[in-house]
Amino acid sequence: MNSLAIGEIMSILDVRNFRAYYFTKAGTVKAVDGVNLSIDKKTIIGIVGESGCGKSTLAKALSFNVEPPLKIVKGDIVIDGIKINDMTTDEIRRKILGIKVALIPQSAMNALVPTVKIRSFIKDVLKEKTGYTTLEIFELAVKRFKELNLPIEALDMYPFELSGGMRQRVLIAIATLLNPSLLIADEPTSALDVSTQKMVLETLYDIYRRGLVKSIIFISHDIATVRQIVDEIVVMYAGKFVEKGSTEEMINEPLHPYSKGLIFSILTPELIVRERVRKAKEVLLKGEPPSLINPPSGCRFHPRCPYAMDICRREEPPMIEVERNRFVSCWLYVKR
Ligand SMILES: Nc1ncnc2c1ncn2[C@@H]1O[C@H](COP(=O)(O)OP(=O)(O)OP(=O)(O)O)[C@@H](O)[C@H]1O
Ligand code: SF4
Ligand SMILES: [Mg+2]
Repeated sequence: MNSLAIGEIMSILDVRNFRAYYFTKAGTVKAVDGVNLSIDKKTIIGIVGESGCGKSTLAKALSFNVEPPLKIVKGDIVIDGIKINDMTTDEIRRKILGIKVALIPQSAMNALVPTVKIRSFIKDVLKEKTGYTTLEIFELAVKRFKELNLPIEALDMYPFELSGGMRQRVLIAIATLLNPSLLIADEPTSALDVSTQKMVLETLYDIYRRGLVKSIIFISHDIATVRQIVDEIVVMYAGKFVEKGSTEEMINEPLHPYSKGLIFSILTPELIVRERVRKAKEVLLKGEPPSLINPPSGCRFHPRCPYAMDICRREEPPMIEVERNRFVSCWLYVKR
């Protein structure tokens, strides 16, 4: 986030003042609006927030899956030591996508072409990018399916013949065939039942544990799911990051009023074990996130925040490091 000089050498992703907007007839939707993020190698980071806060836009922009009306407006991106800003679109497609960064988009399960068998889909995806022969691609896929305990027979099936969970696990395998440094998984477990979710999480973790990807960004609106595999959690609200900390800190002692409300609203009662978390009841999320065409002035959370002060309406709070690697953007924590 702001002063993350530490870990710079170790960084798999380093993003500064990153902005991605939708330019629509109704106005400019500032869906990602000045985000800073550093992710170290060997980290699984969760990004959480309510619907419409910009998570998928961030995922698309960070993985260069950007189509009009979305546009990356500003910001520096360095992925695994490569500065992307200096590259042409063609270079990004050839050298970065699927190799340095891969995205499993939200609702990816529908991305598989219904009339194309998995084997042909994989061939189409990899042929142009790698120049491998059909046999080489097939061998690569078989190896990866075996590593991830996926049935080889699935390669000769049509997507509709696979269960939802299996389709998602197959997609994870396909997206990571070239061992990308960073995998961004956008809501990979939503719309699945709990036991299937567990299998998908295991596949994701397997990819990471085996070093097939160096780091993962796991995006979800569901902290209860995210916390099962992530090391750190970032909370996003209205196009901005508002808090970051280790999973344990974020669950047990959220600082930002929005994080408190979010965590309390999502965690099941048996997870609310500590007094500090019970206090999170003080912030019950009311109302809806704002329009990102014309977001609130100052702190974007101020219209919903029970602690809002005058300064919150006027000025945007800085992101401060309250403890080592613990960041929050809220005037309550700024010494004045
Ligand atoms: N194609 C689009 N054109 C215009 N605005 C869009 C488009 N896609 C998303 N938005 C807007 O951008 C903002 C962020 O949306 P985004 O999909 O990134 O949120 P999200 O956090 O992923 O939500 P969810 O949890 O529902 O997936 C929202 O205000 C949304 O309405
Ligand atoms: S900056 Fe102010 S309005 Fe925003 S979360 Fe903190 S106290 Fe609430
Ligand atoms: Mg989304």
